[in-house]
Amino acid sequence: MENSIKLMLFLSFCFVSNQALLANASVPALYVFGDSHLDPGNNMHLNTPAKPNRWPYAIDFHNIRGRFTNGRNMADFIASYLDLPFPPAYLNLSDSERSQTTTGISYASASCGILNTTGAGECLTLAKQVGCFTSTVKNDLPLAIKDQEKLQDHLANSLYLVFIGNNDYHDAMSHNVSNKFSPDKYADILLDEVTKHIKTLYDLGARKFVVSGISSCQPHNYTKDCKSRYFADKLPQRLQELRCTLSGSLFTVYDVVNVYKKITDNPQKYGFTNIQDPCYPEGGSLCKDRKKYLRFDQYSHQTEAAYEIASKDCFYGQACSPYSILELAKAPIISHH
Ligand SMILES: *[C@@H]1O[C@H](CO)[C@@H](O)[C@H](O)[C@H]1NC(C)=O
Ligand SMILES: *[C@@H]1O[C@H](CO)[C@@H](O)[C@H](O)[C@H]1NC(C)=O
Ligand SMILES: *[C@@H]1O[C@H](CO)[C@@H](O)[C@H](O)[C@H]1NC(C)=O
Ligand SMILES: *[C@@H]1O[C@H](CO)[C@@H](O)[C@H](O)[C@H]1NC(C)=O
Repeated sequence: MENSIKLMLFLSFCFVSNQALLANASVPALYVFGDSHLDPGNNMHLNTPAKPNRWPYAIDFHNIRGRFTNGRNMADFIASYLDLPFPPAYLNLSDSERSQTTTGISYASASCGILNTTGAGECLTLAKQVGCFTSTVKNDLPLAIKDQEKLQDHLANSLYLVFIGNNDYHDAMSHNVSNKFSPDKYADILLDEVTKHIKTLYDLGARKFVVSGISSCQPHNYTKDCKSRYFADKLPQRLQELRCTLSGSLFTVYDVVNVYKKITDNPQKYGFTNIQDPCYPEGGSLCKDRKKYLRFDQYSHQTEAAYEIASKDCFYGQACSPYSILELAKAPIISHH
């Protein structure tokens, strides 16, 4: 009897609807895992060619090099909507800064991906990013948040961005590994790894996750030819399964392809006049109005203007489902103490 009630509670919690997300909780920190789209300067400290150490990167960010765009990236915008500072690059923090930072950190690293073998030169693989976060939780945060219960509350109410996998589908960055498997099998390999790492974050205390699909399919070429589609298509189901095994976890998926489809279907609506050419073609000249371009460089990085639209749509609009980030932020946490 008792067991069947437990089972029913478990099931109903698993299929809880959006309307259940009502209570008002503030988000203490934003922790960021990803690649160049979110890297705020980790690669500046590593021996890698994937380093935005030149003009005009960060031209609209006081020329403080480290980001792969002209200004702020999606983690920066999402942090500002949460009233948090921009998450600093883990590798750009001294030991004493690390032990005083309680509003979030970015472990994102350009050229790296989900697999240990993906990357150009040195970078933080997802395994390493999760390793750095483990050190944050075990060594740094306890110095600032001394009460263990408060630390668990901090971790449970924080948001975790996991936007990674583009480079695992990039032939040069992944060293053609994807070509060794069927697209279906490769997506499963990547998803097994991602879910394993999410489980590690969960075991450390994380509960609220925003996980991204992959941006390498062109919106108007979202066919079975585009291998990363298999990852994006399977992701929501995999997270739903994970939610049922990790009690109290909440996931929302950022549909990156759909956001860019919306923009390219109706560029004027978003203030863009050029959705085709990069604002800065390497070695060429910089475009006149960076707010009117979708693409910043010829490697898939977008302009600050594009990242802002995508961030807003995920935070307040429909780009993230089943929850907007705002809904996720407000969702009550099932307390464990
Ligand atoms: C890295 O840290 C230094 C020293 O605190 C700071 O001046 C610089 O702006 C930081 N870089 C980035 C990209 O935030
Ligand atoms: C990836 O590297 C980490 C160390 O960074 C290691 O612990 C892990 O076992 C490796 N994963 C695989 C699948 O080889
Ligand atoms: C990937 O494969 C292509 C041919 O399909 C080859 O030209 C290229 O050198 C390979 N790249 C790597 C990094 O192995
Ligand atoms: C669609 O994507 C596939 C694989 O990425 C590529 O081979 C093909 O050329 C693309 N087609 C168009 C029309 O862009």
